[in-house]
Amino acid sequence: MNRNENNFLSLYVHWPYCESKCPYCDFNSHVNENIESAHWINSYTNQLYSMKEQLSEHDVSTKKLNTIFFGGGTPSLMPLEIIESILKTSFDLFGYNKCIEISLEANPTSYEKDKFCDLKKLGINRLSIGVQSLNDDNLKLLGRLHNTEDAQLAVEHAIKTFNNVSVDLIYAFHGQQIINWTNELKVFLRNNDLQHISLYQLTIEEGTKFFTNYKKGLFNKIDDNKAANFYEISNEILNDQNFSKYEISNHAKHGFQCKHNLSYWKSQNWIGIGPGAYGRLWSSKSNNSRVEYQNYKNPKRWLSKNMYKSEFEKINFFNNTTSDIDTLTMGLRLCEGIETSKLYDESIIQNNAFKKLEEQKIIIIKDGILRVNKNYMIKLNSIIDFLTNS
Ligand SMILES: C[S@@+](CC[C@H](N)C(=O)[O-])C[C@H]1O[C@@H](n2cnc3c(N)ncnc32)[C@H](O)[C@@H]1O
Ligand code: SF4
Repeated sequence: MNRNENNFLSLYVHWPYCESKCPYCDFNSHVNENIESAHWINSYTNQLYSMKEQLSEHDVSTKKLNTIFFGGGTPSLMPLEIIESILKTSFDLFGYNKCIEISLEANPTSYEKDKFCDLKKLGINRLSIGVQSLNDDNLKLLGRLHNTEDAQLAVEHAIKTFNNVSVDLIYAFHGQQIINWTNELKVFLRNNDLQHISLYQLTIEEGTKFFTNYKKGLFNKIDDNKAANFYEISNEILNDQNFSKYEISNHAKHGFQCKHNLSYWKSQNWIGIGPGAYGRLWSSKSNNSRVEYQNYKNPKRWLSKNMYKSEFEKINFFNNTTSDIDTLTMGLRLCEGIETSKLYDESIIQNNAFKKLEEQKIIIIKDGILRVNKNYMIKLNSIIDFLTNS
């Protein structure tokens, strides 16, 4: 069967630099260095050409792009000529579907706000702004360089400039009061006509400054029950404001689900270029198996490896089991769940782990769809661990 439903193809572009490193962030992001635009353009271009060859090699039927996502790091810091070049080359090589979604992640400083119109002119049609908190003390705690006033001005300007604006917020951390958070969220949603919101509960990731402080006892984790309260109440507030939750942390107004992220969660085909980016294709040549392309993570290494000719750090061929685990891990994040026919081995849903969670109504298997009961979404990671490791 063709596991790439709708034959969609997406492109992820990673920009690894930021103004400063936030103490909670374990993304592949580094403090800005001197950038030679021409070198970056060469490397991104070589990667696009190389992926074009890979699509033919694996006989991937879709060749036109349905979505492009500039993520980071902070891609709103990218020199415009690099964005322009990537868009031009990707259009020349692959072509665009008529309703292509082209997203870019932006930080809400005034420098970046002033670039929104130029970004739109280049073809960006969806902006995702990292507001992160609606309260100045919490922005300081999160180590952000902007304040709430900067964020509000950036959001207003984005709404005037783009028809599709999303905001990222981090919440549910130790010491945060639910009553303050809910009031901030309600006022923010009432004042700003957004199309999409990503609400992330703060996670303390290994290797971050928060993790070091946590280990030293200087920073606490929020209690699980309290985090669950934050989750439920925030979902209700968003629901009241016409946002539907479609993924564990993502909410959209009607017609504004992020098409790019859906391509990951639905295990479609995507190309990933830039330091640390990875891409995955279903190969028609190799028995419809999943092939993964991994890029060198270190920006300087990636740049030197790709400047004259593209080189991936690794190409992995998933076996059927790895592929199924990946399809489940990605797909169960979606509220609508996944079609069991996307699995190589559909019989795994008959095994004891699945049966046990089905009996407890933690997962629901009906009419060929497997999904997590919405009341248990907050426990998604442990559910996936249980299903894939039992
Ligand atoms: C690649 S980062 C964002 C890009 C942009 N530089 C910014 O900071 O707004 C994607 C999002 O992940 C979220 N995030 C990163 N680390 C997190 C953590 N430890 N806990 C919760 N959310 C996190 C933030 O909301 C962030 O906007
Ligand atoms: S959260 Fe965003 S701005 Fe902060 S370090 Fe990570 S990618 Fe950079």
